[in-house]
Amino acid sequence: MKPYIYITRKLPEAVVESIRQTYEVKMWEHEDIPVPKEVLFSEAQKADALLTMLSDQIDEEILTAGNQLKVVANLAVGFDNIDVKTASRLGIAVCNTPDVLTDTTADLTFALLMAAARRIVEAAEFVKEGNWKSWSPLLLAGHDIHHKTIGIVGMGKIGETVAKRATGFDMNILYHNRTRKPEIEQKLGAVFTSFEELVEKSDFLVCLTPLTPETKNLFTRDVFKKMKQSAIFLNASRGPVIDEQALYDALVAGEIAGAGLDVFEKEPINAEHPLLTLPNVVALPHIGSSSVETRTDMMKLCIDNITAVLDGTEPKTLVNKDWKPLVNA
Ligand code: DGY
Repeated sequence: MKPYIYITRKLPEAVVESIRQTYEVKMWEHEDIPVPKEVLFSEAQKADALLTMLSDQIDEEILTAGNQLKVVANLAVGFDNIDVKTASRLGIAVCNTPDVLTDTTADLTFALLMAAARRIVEAAEFVKEGNWKSWSPLLLAGHDIHHKTIGIVGMGKIGETVAKRATGFDMNILYHNRTRKPEIEQKLGAVFTSFEELVEKSDFLVCLTPLTPETKNLFTRDVFKKMKQSAIFLNASRGPVIDEQALYDALVAGEIAGAGLDVFEKEPINAEHPLLTLPNVVALPHIGSSSVETRTDMMKLCIDNITAVLDGTEPKTLVNKDWKPLVNA
């Protein structure tokens, strides 16, 4: 019997056709509707491999649904949706898609920064809605980006690449990270600071830290209060890293100047979400890595990781480093 791979979203056939000869492959039939938990559970009962999305909760119930699951390949660099500890205990490899999405996600993060600073979305809507009656000196005046201070919280590969983009704008770069990165300091002139100092000094505060128990709710009411009134807050990591109500209140009270958000506490958000009522918020639907090229590369990397594990070899981008290939898989 061929090993069974279940894919929790409809992916382009071109990405999966190469593995159909060797494996039994089934995809959830919708591109834009998540697989219901009960369907995922029933597929997980018979699956040797799952190719999952960041919106799927891969918890103990799913991981223990059957007894032949060997690998979960998540189509994202983040893996906070997967119970990695349980996967490790069960000998299930967990894989993600780092590296291939670094530049694309950094591009989007910087685009978000620029859009929020220069009021791009507001200005584009202003023209489209027929409100442009004359040129005027302070029409939709935004904030400069060049020579300002960018503070990056979470100096992983994406953080480093955002910092690289910032050098092109002659920005002062501050960063805060669990570990200091001397090579980035040397290469890009980034300065390591405490979280508190970064919060107080940044004109643009960019959140790129992964969601972990330590970073959950990192940006509290008190943190927003300590930011400059002219500061713009950007989040391209995970929604639960911030207290969304506190961000909303800080924006309404004028404690900070604006926000650019690619991620939210509970996704997807609907049109009634309070943050969407604020003109100084640019909101995007979690599209950090979403270019056709990068998403295709991410899908291929997931497939490579799955086939590596099913072939009994080490996958390229393993999350649970203590996992070992099974002999005679
Ligand atoms: C990821 O892959 O984890 C990012 O959220 C990309 O958008």
